[in-house]
Amino acid sequence: VAVLLAAFGGWLAWLWTSADTSTVGKGSFGNELAIPPLAEPSRVKADGTKVFDLEMRAGEKEFRSGQRTKTWGFNGDHLGPTLRAERGDKVEVRVRNTLDESSTVHWHGMHLPARMDGGPHQMVRPGATWTPYWKIDQPAATLWYHPHPHGRTEQHVQRGLAGMFLLDDDKSAALPLPKKYGVDDLPVIVQDVKFDGAEFDHGRGLMQNVGFLGDRTMVNGTLDPHREVRDELVRLRLLNASTARTYSFGFDDNRRYTQIATDGGLLERPVQTERLQLSPGERAEIVVRMRAGERTTLRSFPQDNYGDAWNTRFGGADDSFDILQLRAAEALRPSPALPQKLGELEVPDGSDAVRARHFDLKKSGINGRKMAMDRIDETVTRGTTETWTVRNTNGMPHNFHVHDVQFRVLEVNGKIPPPHLRGAKDTVFLPNGTTMKLALRFEGPADPDTPYVYHCHLLYHEDEGMMGQFAVVEKGQRAGRPDAGGADG
Ligand code: C2O
Ligand code: CU
Repeated sequence: VAVLLAAFGGWLAWLWTSADTSTVGKGSFGNELAIPPLAEPSRVKADGTKVFDLEMRAGEKEFRSGQRTKTWGFNGDHLGPTLRAERGDKVEVRVRNTLDESSTVHWHGMHLPARMDGGPHQMVRPGATWTPYWKIDQPAATLWYHPHPHGRTEQHVQRGLAGMFLLDDDKSAALPLPKKYGVDDLPVIVQDVKFDGAEFDHGRGLMQNVGFLGDRTMVNGTLDPHREVRDELVRLRLLNASTARTYSFGFDDNRRYTQIATDGGLLERPVQTERLQLSPGERAEIVVRMRAGERTTLRSFPQDNYGDAWNTRFGGADDSFDILQLRAAEALRPSPALPQKLGELEVPDGSDAVRARHFDLKKSGINGRKMAMDRIDETVTRGTTETWTVRNTNGMPHNFHVHDVQFRVLEVNGKIPPPHLRGAKDTVFLPNGTTMKLALRFEGPADPDTPYVYHCHLLYHEDEGMMGQFAVVEKGQRAGRPDAGGADG
């Protein structure tokens, strides 16, 4: 039966891909790219704490003229404002939920106490306000925030709940990098989408086991986007905020560009490249050089390491997409040359690892187990470094995200990682047949009763239970037993 099904699947895939439904190179780019507003702190407390307000709410947005789509957003109809803070800042976010269902807000990439993490245990009921606070203690980086209710994350993100959280520090501020937000430093939140009449179509379609795949993309909630630029060098903060789709970013003229940062901040030195693959949840900062008067299109190119390619193609006939057109002004402001040295990595190298753990990724669960809210799977000791070896032989693409930490990739299939993975990471793509060895350091604080999670960031897989929990404890302490339902905030 399996063989017959596989043969049938292959035939369907052939049928599907034979039709030329690709829209690459045909884009009109008729819409000006929206830039999410920078959130201003609503107040600054006497001790310097910056207070931000985020309201999760339902709305409507006209993505296509004349069609109003029901959406969710933070402080607006769709997506959310860009939060921004500096290393050393104390921040507090008042998260108010005016939706008619419970959700959470997770600070993806942030090092912070487990109770402030916004994972599945920090549920915010309708009408309630949850107020996490923490001190920013990590390098400048492009992080993001999104809901994390167990079993419903895919839908909540897809409806529009996502935003960027930018961190700055003195070292990055002193570097001659493009840094005028919305001018030469652009947030690029990439999501795939599908419409059914006026509304979003959230359906996973026929035989898709990777989750929802849309048939077109949008950036910052703008379909067919273009952006005028006036500087020679433009920094793009790429965030793959799609629920399942992986992109291989490049430009239509195959120009080389410079990658300067990974998930957790600046690389040690810039990396020249033509393609950069990002799976859901991953970020990268790139700098592209523009010539006066030209147009160039950021595109996603076909990917050959995608596992069962026929399966992923069902969402869009082709995995190529025109993402964003950059239109250079007739005269460009000169930009300073990029520095040769960017930053010092603060991720561990694994030499002081006290423990090795192994994670086998399967859609049916990690290490053979599905997520259980009241079970802590791994207990780590505060102040120690570990190596985690993560393996995917499951026949389909997965990725792996760990809360609270930025880690270093030590090995990919036994070899040193490619340059674009030699930086601080919190999410890594593991196509079928990949094993990665990671070094992670757990700084705490210890909280035996409140776990963090690790999971596949293909959100359908996460919702289906491809997630586990770890608690950070003091040496000799035992993990407690968290609440099965997740405490309401
Ligand atoms: Cu981006 Cu556990 O999440
Ligand atoms: Cu997965």
